[in-house]
Amino acid sequence: MTDIKAAIAGMSEPAGIQYLTEQFPGAVAFSTSFGQEDQVLADIIWRNQLPVRVFTLDTGRLFQETYDLMDLTRARYKQPFEIYFPETAAVEKLVAKKGMNSFYDSVENRKECCYIRKVAPLNRALQGVKVWITGLRAEQSENRQGLEVLEWDEARGLYKYNPLIHWSYEDMLAYLDQYNVPFNKLHNQGFISIGCAPCTRAIEPGEHPRAGRWWWEESKKECGLHG
Ligand code: ADX
Ligand code: SF4
Repeated sequence: MTDIKAAIAGMSEPAGIQYLTEQFPGAVAFSTSFGQEDQVLADIIWRNQLPVRVFTLDTGRLFQETYDLMDLTRARYKQPFEIYFPETAAVEKLVAKKGMNSFYDSVENRKECCYIRKVAPLNRALQGVKVWITGLRAEQSENRQGLEVLEWDEARGLYKYNPLIHWSYEDMLAYLDQYNVPFNKLHNQGFISIGCAPCTRAIEPGEHPRAGRWWWEESKKECGLHG
């Protein structure tokens, strides 16, 4: 860990990703939610033809605008990405027992839905993966402020590489603009952090960037992907 960390310290994002693909051939994967950070990383990976598997988790409850962006991104880059869905039987059981919107009723129900629709498919997508690339940024939340560029994920037994961890919101916008990277139309309508449609709302100026995620909850705003 220390060696790899030292080796990538100071490397540019493409150089760091390239290095990790050489250390762990065929075992580096990037998870994209098609948010702005992830569009930056997809552009870096595909522009530099880095041998990284790209996948997304379709919870079945995403915004139409997110699906539009998936197709736009496919048309723009002509690069493959895998789309993971939740296990059919688990979703059928959940909605038969608790209805379509159980996540509003309690934190426990919300976490159950996130587990079925996001975490379990993520675990499936990460099988055999040694380096998981994410678009996490420290500025996004208190939980993320202590994170480093390279983390060891003890529970999953893999390295988590967060190349944008120290990027500011402005850095990210500048990159999107410089390379004319396509982004979700909802970002122009007050949405900053975008997840599932029933669990994301636009924010007002001055509100915390993640205030629109699971806005009815007081608790820590994470879904289990990142703790
Ligand atoms: S979440 O935990 O609150 O949902 P967030 O939306 O901030 O996460 O995204 C942080 C990172 O988690 C993204 O950069 C991406 O790597 C991963 N991620 C989040 N949602 C998805 C998704 N639906 N599919 C694939 N990766 C995702
Ligand atoms: Fe379910 Fe909402 Fe979690 Fe999406 S964000 S998986 S709809 S609880």
